[in-house]
Amino acid sequence: MFKGLLNRVRVDLVRSYYPKRGLWSPIDTQHRPMGVADQASVRLCCGTLIDMMSMRTKWRSSLDYCSKYLLMVYSTYEDEAHRSSGGAETTATTLKWWALAMVAFPEVQRRAHAELDAVIGRDRLPTFADAPRLPYIHSVIKEVLRWRPTLPLGVPHAADEDDWYEGMFIPKGTVCIPNAWHCNHDRAIFGEDADNFRPERHLDERGELLSGPVETNQAGHVSFGFGRRICVGKELAANSLFISVARVLWAANFERARDENGRELPVDTETIVDVGLL
Ligand code: HEM
Repeated sequence: MFKGLLNRVRVDLVRSYYPKRGLWSPIDTQHRPMGVADQASVRLCCGTLIDMMSMRTKWRSSLDYCSKYLLMVYSTYEDEAHRSSGGAETTATTLKWWALAMVAFPEVQRRAHAELDAVIGRDRLPTFADAPRLPYIHSVIKEVLRWRPTLPLGVPHAADEDDWYEGMFIPKGTVCIPNAWHCNHDRAIFGEDADNFRPERHLDERGELLSGPVETNQAGHVSFGFGRRICVGKELAANSLFISVARVLWAANFERARDENGRELPVDTETIVDVGLL
């Protein structure tokens, strides 16, 4: 139901973020005008999320501080820009890591461009209907989520009751902090190159999307959290990421910035800037 609406919301965010980053220079001349978010679609989207969260609270004892904060963010921002940015911080951060990956790993970008050229051509923008025919785009998004999880230590939760986990006693009230970073970079699951950015790990030999490792619940990463408290917006996020990545890559080429002598500047993929809502 939200697909067309979200498309407009997210693409507008991309436009407002990237020109300020100075990371890339679009060399393609085929830019299309990008749409703007409309108030009604954002309200519809946030309202549904609040309903979903309220339903969750009915079968859960209480909301922790982080969920309360998220609910507050989604329900109280009055103007469209704040509401969009409050609900979109994690998605926007993922897109920033993706942009950096495109600059740092040009061979990945080349393969993504090749897929878009072959499947879409140059006469029209990608749409959601194209999603099943763009496995490499999906694999790039999965790999960004795995490689640089927006919430590397997830969201803390407290145990409702005494519990045992793999021989360890967890008393009621214990705050548990999931180490999503470690899970996503676990060599036992992703192999010796787990720290590398390699979208192909999510594809089979025919280039089709693989079902992720069982430890990740087939997702290929644990960046949306776990179990009953898994991110309620993950499908929304996946759709936003897909249409943003597919359309920006269709229209643009990311290149490294150059110094005054025209030499490419090095790209730092390790430094993490810790500024944001979460
Ligand atoms: C790439 C984008 C996103 C990432 C990486 C992400 C990640 C997460 C994570 C790790 C959690 C905690 C899950 C847990 O406790 O196990 C969470 C919870 C949540 N997320 Fe997201 N999220 C994203 C996008 C969104 C979007 C777009 C929305 C809504 C528009 C959203 C709404 C929520 C809400 C309401 C919760 C709390 C759920 C609960 O406590 O029951 N998220 N998210």
